[in-house]
Amino acid sequence: MEVCRFFYCSSMAVLLISGLMFPAMVASLGINYGQIGNNLPTPETVVHLVKAIGATKIKLYDTNPRILKAFANTGVEFIVMLPNECLSDMRDPKEAQNWVKQNVQAYLPATKITCISVGNEILTYNDTSLSNHLIPAMQSMQSAVVTLGLDKQVTITTTHSLAVLETSYPPSAGAFRRDLVACFTKILDFHVKTGSPFLINAYPYFAYKNNPKQVSLDFVLFQPNQGVLDPTSNLRYDNMLFAQIDAVYSALASLGYKNLTVHISETGWPSKGDGDEAGATPEYAKKYNGNLLKVISQKKGTPMKPNYDLNIYVFALFNENMKPGPTSERNYGLFKPDGTPVYNLGISTANVISTNTSAGGGVNVNSSTPQPPNGYLSITSDANPAVKSSGEEILGENKGGLVLVS
Ligand SMILES: *[C@@H]1O[C@H](CO)[C@@H](O)[C@H](O)[C@H]1NC(C)=O
Ligand SMILES: *[C@@H]1O[C@H](CO)[C@@H](O)[C@H](O)[C@H]1NC(C)=O
Ligand SMILES: *[C@@H]1O[C@H](CO)[C@@H](O)[C@H](O)[C@H]1NC(C)=O
Ligand SMILES: *[C@@H]1O[C@H](CO)[C@@H](O)[C@H](O)[C@H]1NC(C)=O
Repeated sequence: MEVCRFFYCSSMAVLLISGLMFPAMVASLGINYGQIGNNLPTPETVVHLVKAIGATKIKLYDTNPRILKAFANTGVEFIVMLPNECLSDMRDPKEAQNWVKQNVQAYLPATKITCISVGNEILTYNDTSLSNHLIPAMQSMQSAVVTLGLDKQVTITTTHSLAVLETSYPPSAGAFRRDLVACFTKILDFHVKTGSPFLINAYPYFAYKNNPKQVSLDFVLFQPNQGVLDPTSNLRYDNMLFAQIDAVYSALASLGYKNLTVHISETGWPSKGDGDEAGATPEYAKKYNGNLLKVISQKKGTPMKPNYDLNIYVFALFNENMKPGPTSERNYGLFKPDGTPVYNLGISTANVISTNTSAGGGVNVNSSTPQPPNGYLSITSDANPAVKSSGEEILGENKGGLVLVS
């Protein structure tokens, strides 16, 4: 294991010595910083927590100014998001340019924003009044970064749910939903032209939850198991996440895009759920996320792309008490809002939040998490509150995912 190379070695030294061993060895850990809570610590405080767990990349569901300022000069890389409800405005090149100026350029270069996701899981809302705006919005955002001279440092992409796949098993048979192929061809051309990554959210948890009797728990939790053989590729899979990722590679290859960079923009496991949410326990969350961190630290690729970095963003940093939906939605965090771990991942951050009281860095129980503009979480009254809400994913039932018979 490569020790120390990625240690963050400044004021956090004391914390590192006091037992923070494992995550600091993680090669390049990304984390999703969701903000749908009224009890979250201040962004200034979160900087210390993020450093303590050794995360070097953050994905946001907006462009919260306070967060982007707090992370100035930290070296942490950001994927920021253009909220879903702003998509249609971005068809106007002038609007796109203004948005990039105000929400991205204003923080560069001190804050290392490297990527803008144009919306979140747009294509799986099945709402053409929304999805019709996606490609034009991506194009004018790209023109905006070019015009502003930022295209060498900031790429434009969008984030997909795994439910964009029609087939995900066996991994070699991975294919996009037929009705989305035409759209994907354009999006993938865009990635090739601009060099931006393809972002996908992948949750083995959903496959387990939907089929707890048939899906092998060891297989979804990265526990030792005999694995499954893909009869076509002859590759053996010992965990579901890798099978899901390779299904995505197959889907891309089947359309002729063999060489795109893929990032896993979300994956995680809830530590608590309702009675009908099988597997949402601290024990399983600890196994999933703990083993996931090990996999990331080993810098192992998937069976199909063994030499590719996984580029994984764990979901999520905090439990978010204001998220609607089933109990699991509010319990994906590695940390409670007070900065203590939800379960023991071997991450000792006991003092990260409380030690720095001299700087006023304690947890702000009142939560001053600023409300981002444009209705960050605009819940509509219809049956599917996720539709058209901006920003942060509301994990729906329909996340796709592969179902395996053990
Ligand atoms: C979207 O459409 C697909 C394909 O027609 C369907 O399988 C899926 O259930 C739909 N999803 C939602 C959220 O309506
Ligand atoms: C694939 O992409 C990598 C870097 O993204 C590049 O170095 C390589 O030449 C590409 N290979 C092909 C066959 O296009
Ligand atoms: C405490 O907070 C101050 C100001 O936010 C920061 O400069 C300093 O590095 C922090 N110290 C520790 C030990 O985290
Ligand atoms: C919350 O904020 C109010 C007003 O700003 C203040 O009076 C109160 O003491 C705060 N509570 C805590 C727990 O910080």
